[in-house]
Amino acid sequence: MNEVLNNIRTRRSVRSFTEKRIPQEAVEAIVEAATYAPSAMNRQSWHFTVVHNREKIQKLAEAIGQQIGREGYDFYKPDMLILVEADRENQNGQLDSGCAMENIMLAAHSLGVGSVWVNQAKGICDEPGVRKVLDEFGVPATHVIWGIAALGYAVEQPEEKPRAEGTVNFVE
Ligand SMILES: Cc1cc2nc3c(=O)[nH]c(=O)nc-3n(C[C@H](O)[C@H](O)[C@H](O)COP(=O)(O)O)c2cc1C
Repeated sequence: MNEVLNNIRTRRSVRSFTEKRIPQEAVEAIVEAATYAPSAMNRQSWHFTVVHNREKIQKLAEAIGQQIGREGYDFYKPDMLILVEADRENQNGQLDSGCAMENIMLAAHSLGVGSVWVNQAKGICDEPGVRKVLDEFGVPATHVIWGIAALGYAVEQPEEKPRAEGTVNFVE
């Protein structure tokens, strides 16, 4: 199996992170990988907000937790978040963002950085408590967050999950 296929095969969602900080070089490589995802009509409609500050991550977690009624909500205490956003008017924003999310997670894994997709923001970006924090982070008011990548070094590598059967049909 080549390196790329092996990286795809071995990536797992990580939900427990160490205190170790992701070096800036790795942060930049991960974000660059996001920008190299495919996008509809090459519009590159996404926008990425990198939050590499634990206090600010906690602030957003508290705002989201309050909105969804989950006390102690914490994104699994990662070292960094990447908010993957697109303008709400963009018809392909969600799909483009999904491609970028996958690039982020695979690039991170290739560098030994764990990640998990966090999905709680997308329906509540306009709620005042959440919006206030997003404004502080410079997320444009016209944007929807389609995915949040929580990133950091894994406490332990999660086990491989069995793949569902019957999801592929070959027509020859
Ligand atoms: C669209 C999407 C939303 C997800 N939302 C969450 C989430 O909110 N919280 C979470 O812990 N994992 C979330 N995940 C991660 C999935 O639970 C995970 O990918 C799945 O269980 C398969 O495990 P694996 O990533 O280790 O292969 C999400 C994944 C996707 C693709």
